Amino acid sequence: MNAPTVPRRRHILALDDWSAAELRGVLATAAQMKDVLARPIKQVPTLRGKIVVNMFWEESTRTRVSFELAAKALSANVLSVGSKDTSVKKGESLVDTVRTVQALGADYIVLRHTSSGAPYLVAEHFRGSVINAGDGRHAHPSQALLDLFTMTEQLGDVHGKKIVIVGDILHSRVARSNLWALTTLGAHVTLCAPPTLIGPASEWQRTWPNVTISHDLDASCEGADVLMALRLQRERMEGGLLPSLREYTRRFGLTADRVSRAQPKVLVMHPGPMNEGIEIMPDVATGPHSMVEQQVTNGVAVRMALLYLVAESRDQAPSA
Ligand code: CP
Repeated sequence: MNAPTVPRRRHILALDDWSAAELRGVLATAAQMKDVLARPIKQVPTLRGKIVVNMFWEESTRTRVSFELAAKALSANVLSVGSKDTSVKKGESLVDTVRTVQALGADYIVLRHTSSGAPYLVAEHFRGSVINAGDGRHAHPSQALLDLFTMTEQLGDVHGKKIVIVGDILHSRVARSNLWALTTLGAHVTLCAPPTLIGPASEWQRTWPNVTISHDLDASCEGADVLMALRLQRERMEGGLLPSLREYTRRFGLTADRVSRAQPKVLVMHPGPMNEGIEIMPDVATGPHSMVEQQVTNGVAVRMALLYLVAESRDQAPSA
């Protein structure tokens, strides 16, 4: 397999310092990985003899399973551990857990954690590579890359496209990572949410000057190329952020009528898990515009590409 030449990274922690060339390089590598997954034997030897440890300190279905499948498709030995079934339950710290899996031979750690910044701490204490599988409300780089991959498969390029992200922006690591990737590639991003679930526009525009902040989903949907609904993260809310669920759904739920205001071939996306009937209606979630299953499918190829890229970095520049 001849993967494209892209800058090497030892860790994948966030997308805030990724260039357009680097993003495109990952998309091209993921396309090659998708070809591998279409073969009768869905496996290449890239990580043969290597150990990938999935450390998931927060619940996950899509990310955990697809990283596991991705590592297996690259021939790695992979195991998944959660905080509830390890000595973390007895009080062992994250850093001591990392030292332990390192002593057991881990080459790569894929980490999901409730605390923003936890992957940076792990990267400081681990001699191998760390891939962030979602930390608090900070970043979810592999999700944003699979979203980007799905969009470019369908649209060709996101440059100049209108991408609307609607929902619980305040608590969303997916929104933040998508913002980095999409704006770097020249997309026009609108974030749409009630004021309590997004905060002041000036705070977003300090980091992303061209982002549009809206509290009107009907208007935001006009002419959109992509409508991405986000889950209402009630587990991260401390109360008082929503007057009522019914009112939220009435104003910010993705309905067929709202989808009809967008471009005729609009892509409807959701990173999952979905609260159907709250942020997205069931007929929209499974309707003709829905990319939800393609997003999940593409997650394996994109995560193979990320494991491949960090493996290459370790082979070529171990101290990078
Ligand atoms: N999108 C996403 O991260 O889903 P999971 O929580 O199921 O991994």
